Amino acid sequence: MALKLNTNGPFLQSQKLSSFALPPMANNLSLRSPKFVMASTLRSGSKEVENGRKPFMPPREVHVQVTHSMPPQKIEIFKSLDEWAEQNILVHLKPVEKCWQPQDFLPDPSSEGFEEQVNELRERAKEIPDDYFVVLVGDMITEEALPTYQTMLNTLDGVRDETGASLTSWAIWTRAWTAEENRHGDLLNKYLYLSGRVDMRQIEKTIQYLIGSGMDPRTENSPYLGFIYTSFQERATFVSHGNTARLAKERGDLKLAQLCGTIASDEKRHETAYTKIVEKLFEIDPNGTVLAFADMMRKKISMPAHLMYDGKDDNLFENFSAVAQRLGVYTARDYADILEFLVGRWKIEELTGLSGEGQKAQDYVCGLPPRIRRLEERAQGRAKEARNIPSAGFTTGK
Ligand SMILES: [Fe+2]
Ligand SMILES: [Fe+2]
Repeated sequence: MALKLNTNGPFLQSQKLSSFALPPMANNLSLRSPKFVMASTLRSGSKEVENGRKPFMPPREVHVQVTHSMPPQKIEIFKSLDEWAEQNILVHLKPVEKCWQPQDFLPDPSSEGFEEQVNELRERAKEIPDDYFVVLVGDMITEEALPTYQTMLNTLDGVRDETGASLTSWAIWTRAWTAEENRHGDLLNKYLYLSGRVDMRQIEKTIQYLIGSGMDPRTENSPYLGFIYTSFQERATFVSHGNTARLAKERGDLKLAQLCGTIASDEKRHETAYTKIVEKLFEIDPNGTVLAFADMMRKKISMPAHLMYDGKDDNLFENFSAVAQRLGVYTARDYADILEFLVGRWKIEELTGLSGEGQKAQDYVCGLPPRIRRLEERAQGRAKEARNIPSAGFTTGK
């Protein structure tokens, strides 16, 4: 497949370009890893508007949307766990007064030294390569689509916030989790704005499109599927923010490293909470939970921002993912590592007393990480081969 050649980076202020197109080498590395094949968008041929889309209706999901797949009687499990959640899950929230705020990591606009602090920030940012900013922008856009993630949690039967201010532990968790998460996009957004390195208007449009498109992570209103999904995602964001912290440190920008590392530590705390919920489900209902785990992994964990669109580039998310992969911020190997971590965390291999179907699900998830790694190595090999053939410079190597 021929890929669009555009040597300009996406969202970068220096080029003032709107597209998320990448240098040719990056396109070569656009591996169809498990993570990337999830970009299930409809390439609509409709003539309704330019780009084949309604102006506020970005790509739609192509898969069948399944709802309420959890048997209604299982809702009782979550109702009966309310007190358990209060004692075991809400403790992973931090009191607001003890939380960091974006302002702790940014120049203080009310101080005399504001301009000087901004200049320092911009000087430090000059040492950071464009590719890094592409990934940071992608991370920020993902965080900024937070309304979608709160909506997703509130689709889950038995744990949704029924009133918007419900006093169940599940609802308290979801609201407070959202409030903690809200600082992530806020901090990254303000940092990127001050850095002067990115095209803010284009980014803001992309956020608007992304929130408008929503997402269907295929959790089917089931808290089993939903909490497996969030366990995976919190760890994925922990890994990726941790890697942007590491790369900033390597470039000598310790303040940016601290900013990203602080977000990563929040993600880690959230991962702890969500994996604990699923651990409890394994204790109460091992068969149902292992089936849900296998189901979620068969469908693959779609990235929250996989419907990312900027009004022009149909492959925006794939291109962002390719840069993240190339920089080592979030790779197909990370996907396998996260899965392997969860298999160990929930002691899947040790589950006993499963039904025949449950045993199959157990075997499937336990064998999946090495399978993904093998596929990944093969894809890497193919990408390498393609790079060695000069005339194949603009093909995917597939
Ligand atoms: Fe976050
Ligand atoms: Fe998170």
